[in-house]
Amino acid sequence: MLIDHWPLQGLSLQTPDLELRLPDNEELAALADVAAAGIHDSDFMPFLVPWTAGSPAEVARSVILHHWKIIGSFDVQDWRIPFTVFYQGMPVGVQTIRAKNFAVTREVATGSWLGKAYHGRGIGTQMRVAVLEFAFAGLGAQSAISAALVGNAASLGVSRKLGYREDGIGREEVQGKLRVDQRLRLDKEQWSAPFGVPMKGLEKVLEFLGL
Ligand SMILES: CC(C)(COP(=O)(O)OP(=O)(O)OC[C@H]1O[C@@H](n2cnc3c(N)ncnc32)[C@H](O)[C@@H]1OP(=O)(O)O)[C@@H](O)C(=O)NCCC(=O)NCCS
Repeated sequence: MLIDHWPLQGLSLQTPDLELRLPDNEELAALADVAAAGIHDSDFMPFLVPWTAGSPAEVARSVILHHWKIIGSFDVQDWRIPFTVFYQGMPVGVQTIRAKNFAVTREVATGSWLGKAYHGRGIGTQMRVAVLEFAFAGLGAQSAISAALVGNAASLGVSRKLGYREDGIGREEVQGKLRVDQRLRLDKEQWSAPFGVPMKGLEKVLEFLGL
């Protein structure tokens, strides 16, 4: 079976309203449709890599190719898990978690997006809680970092609510313009999950990651 060779396919995180897991190919296509319908207002680019600037067809294709690229370049020393976020059984966005040399650094970084129709209902908070609990309680992380371009009130709002502290800034070029990236950091000692996050398939993933 696939999960015998690729245990991440059996990993699932549950929140009160969401499931986070890897999609099958048809679910990935549905996720691409969500992205093509729009992720953010056209006058505010929230991403350092402006992958949402293309046509709906280009955005959809890039969701699929990016997902396969992340899966295809998976490395135990430098991994990324691009969880699809399911709300009422339908894909609505992505919550990624990544780490380099995790066995030593014990640090993860997160990134996310949701289809615009799903913003502002607490979904972004629940999906971040899910991967933070996976990191701290599941994998034994010491810290989690994130970042958001200044002006991204929703992303910064999620981080603020969950107890991250500011951790410096970056000066970045996005679409030919200067943008300031606010870095954020959350340590294990400051983390307390606001709800339980049942996890399926964790044991096999820990073994797979050498943890
Ligand atoms: C970032 C994102 C995933 C957040 O998801 P979400 O479901 O909208 O977030 P939530 O509803 O859980 O929480 C957003 C918080 O920010 C707050 N917020 C949103 N807009 C705000 C504004 N303009 N000013 C102040 N606070 C704001 C909300 O009030 C909420 O906090 P609260 O629960 O304390 O009221 C989603 O907005 C998104 O996909 N945005 C586009 C892509 C993106 O920016 N990705 C992140 C790149 S760093």
